[in-house]
Amino acid sequence: MSVVSVINYKGGVGKTTVTANLGAELAARGRKVLLIDLDPQASLTYSFYRPSDFTEQPTIRSWFDAFVTTRAPEPLFKYVLAPHAVNAIVQPMGGNLHLIASQLGLVDADLDLAAGLGGSRFQKSSPRYLQVYRLLADALADPSFNKYDTVLIDCPPNFNLVTRTALVASDHVIVPARPDYLSTLGIDLLRTRLSALVEDYNSVAPTPINPEIIGVVYTMVQYTANGPLLTQQTSVQATTEIEMPVFRQTIRDNKSAVTEAGLRAVPAVLSPQGTAAVENLRYELQQLTSEFLARTRP
Ligand SMILES: Nc1ncnc2c1ncn2[C@@H]1O[C@H](COP(=O)(O)OP(=O)(O)OP(=O)(O)O)[C@@H](O)[C@H]1O
Ligand SMILES: [Mg+2]
Repeated sequence: MSVVSVINYKGGVGKTTVTANLGAELAARGRKVLLIDLDPQASLTYSFYRPSDFTEQPTIRSWFDAFVTTRAPEPLFKYVLAPHAVNAIVQPMGGNLHLIASQLGLVDADLDLAAGLGGSRFQKSSPRYLQVYRLLADALADPSFNKYDTVLIDCPPNFNLVTRTALVASDHVIVPARPDYLSTLGIDLLRTRLSALVEDYNSVAPTPINPEIIGVVYTMVQYTANGPLLTQQTSVQATTEIEMPVFRQTIRDNKSAVTEAGLRAVPAVLSPQGTAAVENLRYELQQLTSEFLARTRP
């Protein structure tokens, strides 16, 4: 099982869209996939459920809340859902896609967890540091999760404690970004913060972690008749210059295809045959998945 965090603390860069489509395409290729929505905005959850179909289901918020109150984590597998629409498509192909959903109040759990460790600056000296930072890692080590090939975690646009539990649990990290100058600066900062987290954690943990950034995925790339806009190519170039791995496959801007997929509660990569623009987007998402598999192969 490989655990992959999809992160960028810049908002609206395509994290959730990449997570949903990668997960769906992997499942369509016969893999057993678990997606975890760690964002209180719950966009990943609503990529697979229409709001009216999502009411009483358990969410990761209750799981974190239970830990905050009892200090003993509940088994995480009790929170796993199987969204209907996407599984109706991928199950005949031998795969499945499961989801641990999110909901708004997760923000409070994040603050409570940090407070329990004595505030953000003093966490490392807290006797509970390892238990809290390893919450998700230990929960996923439960044998009930052995049946999954890939776990993808959609992180919120921040570097708070809940996000850090995802990074501690991860073998790999993917960074979706928009191809513009400020995003490129943000990527370097993200790498610095990830290294600091790993260094801090490894200085107290008996077993070191090594979450590896396998690549920046450029999303919402705008095309002209002659190919991607030139200014965007410059940003991609700048990322390689700071020696960040970059996915060769980029994802183009196609608001209508992404929005329509949202309304169907099935990611765009699995949408029915459509216009040339839709087919281009699907092709790119499929290529991205192949590249993902190559980059995560042990
Ligand atoms: N390739 C694309 N073309 C056009 N629109 C897109 C594309 N990918 C994502 N979007 C749209 O851009 C918005 C942000 O995308 P998304 O939610 O995936 O980003 P995010 O990084 O997860 O955002 P947040 O930081 O809020 O979690 C959404 O409205 C989504 O539908
Ligand atoms: Mg998101």
